[in-house]
Amino acid sequence: MANKATKGNKPKKKPLPKKRKKSQESNGSGLAYLVPPVMVIVAGIAFVAYITFSYDELEGKVNKAAESWRIDHWQTPIPFQGEAPENFHPLAKGLSAENCKSCHLDKYQEWSESLHHEAMGPGVYGQYPHMNASGVADCNECHAPMSEQWEHLRQDGKWVKNAAYDKDLLMEGITCAACHLRSHQRHGPPLAEGKQSVSQALHGDAQRTPYFEASEFCKGCHQHNPNTLKLNGKTIENTYNEWLESPAYAKGQSCQDCHMPERRHLWKGIHDPEMTASGVTIEPLLSSETPQIGDAFEASLTITNTGTGHMFPTYTTPAVFLKAAFLDANGRAMAGHFEQDIIQRRLKTSGQWQELFDTRIAPDKSRTLKFKRNVPKGASQFKLWVWVEPDHFYEGFYRQTLQNSPNHRGREALQQALQTTLDRQYALFSKTIDIVQ
Ligand code: HEC
Ligand code: HEC
Ligand code: HEC
Ligand code: HEC
Ligand code: HEC
Repeated sequence: MANKATKGNKPKKKPLPKKRKKSQESNGSGLAYLVPPVMVIVAGIAFVAYITFSYDELEGKVNKAAESWRIDHWQTPIPFQGEAPENFHPLAKGLSAENCKSCHLDKYQEWSESLHHEAMGPGVYGQYPHMNASGVADCNECHAPMSEQWEHLRQDGKWVKNAAYDKDLLMEGITCAACHLRSHQRHGPPLAEGKQSVSQALHGDAQRTPYFEASEFCKGCHQHNPNTLKLNGKTIENTYNEWLESPAYAKGQSCQDCHMPERRHLWKGIHDPEMTASGVTIEPLLSSETPQIGDAFEASLTITNTGTGHMFPTYTTPAVFLKAAFLDANGRAMAGHFEQDIIQRRLKTSGQWQELFDTRIAPDKSRTLKFKRNVPKGASQFKLWVWVEPDHFYEGFYRQTLQNSPNHRGREALQQALQTTLDRQYALFSKTIDIVQ
């Protein structure tokens, strides 16, 4: 799809460089000038063919039935639910998660701890006062997708106040109803083994489809369209495509298998140290466990993406640091005796967007930090560690916004969001040894 424009379009021969003298043209020595453009054209064709081929290959892996169901299920915004049927239990008539809580306590408790519930957190709503209705709608598509959650809706090309706007529902972020209700009809996965359908009298039986168990269910919010901005050939959010190319896909593991085990509603990811640890293997290597001052010393720290179903990490927002250092008696890294490596897809998002670097680790691939020094005077310990900043991008973004816009109307919220990014940093791994004095 993205390559329609380029597919049947043969690159045109470029005009020869203008500076050339007439005499060169006639005696054939212009060939030397022709070589670079020809090479460029050949490389161009090869590149287009590569992109087209790899894109079509991915297309072939999409579960087409699940995909067409998704497009229908996930309209943006999700159409109004309308009036609840008369015969529903009074509690089952409401759209709020607080309603569902009365009868689905386990799901409610899990969801309350999840980031889907926090999708309308201070970092998001703090930006809204400085955005117009169309900008807010762009964010709500993923962060609060129900019509009832939108303060403004588009009507005949204009943004108008939404009479059915429910602010409390907006603040629930990605709420139960967003995934499960369409015109009050419950939708869900096939009945769990050994379970019976008993909701008939309360809110009608659910429409059960296997698509709730397919990765396509998650795609709309975790994969940008192929026709949106690409940097170095990759959309900004590219998780679903990464998954299509992963060994997890080949093994038949869906997003839900890893992120909703036993249908739990926690959606743990890089913000959870245990979840992150389950996806990687970390191997420290030291030339000696008892080094002395002056000794030649070497160490390395290798991290392998052994169990995430996509790049580690998948988003452009986290950063993972591999670090090695000699520490002084106060536990501080000594100047000149510190090394680090950054695992991140870092973007420049001011002016023209650019990918500055992409050092993320593909499934089954590794990255190693190497450290080599003589043990310096004053060293008290040697430390190897892996430091995770799940919201690295947002931390910088909030700082910059707070600094550049002293009168920002979402200031308080953004300050709170900044603090949260700092609270969420953690050491995924650490090993410290004492230097023999
Ligand atoms: C008055 C109690 C009650 C309320 C309120 C209620 N439900 Fe249910 N619901 C049930 C019962 C009972 C079942 C069948 C047993 C089960 O799956 O836990 C059920 C089943 C379901 C199912 C199908 C699961 C399956 O496999 O059977 C979904 C999806 C669902 N409810 C979603 C919701 C959502 C979302 C809300 C809130 C908007 C909600 N329910 C509110 C009682 C309720
Ligand atoms: C981001 C979308 C999403 C949200 C939000 C969500 N669910 Fe689900 N829910 C799912 C998916 C997907 C499944 C099926 C998972 C699977 O089969 O692996 C599911 C399964 C269920 C089931 C069937 C469980 C079973 O054990 O058979 C119930 C009941 C349910 N959800 C209720 C809720 C309630 C109540 C809430 C809010 C507190 C909620 N869900 C929020 C996506 C969601
Ligand atoms: C295509 C879906 C999508 C759209 C559209 C989208 N987001 Fe997000 N957003 C996400 C996902 C997925 C995450 C989680 C990424 C992560 O944790 O790294 C996220 C995370 C965030 C976070 C950090 C977590 C938090 O709650 O503080 C902020 C802030 C945010 N988005 C703001 C916005 C704003 C503002 C817009 C509109 C300009 C927007 N997003 C549009 C999908 C989307
Ligand atoms: C309606 C849009 C939407 C759908 C559908 C959706 N997500 Fe999300 N998801 C988000 C947003 C937005 C965030 C970020 C919330 C925040 O932090 O503000 C998020 C966060 C997450 C996270 C937390 C990652 C972290 O940084 O730790 C995981 C894991 C996740 N989603 C997995 C899934 C899976 C699996 C599915 C399918 C079953 C799914 N999501 C469906 C929008 C969505
Ligand atoms: C084989 C298990 C597995 C599969 C399959 C899988 N994930 Fe993950 N995912 C993980 C692990 C482990 C992490 C934590 C480490 C990390 O961040 O990569 C994670 C992290 C995440 C995050 C956190 C943000 C980030 O930058 O890493 C999101 C969002 C996410 N996954 C979404 C998805 C979606 C959507 C799918 C399906 C298209 C999916 N995952 C498939 C295991 C899996």
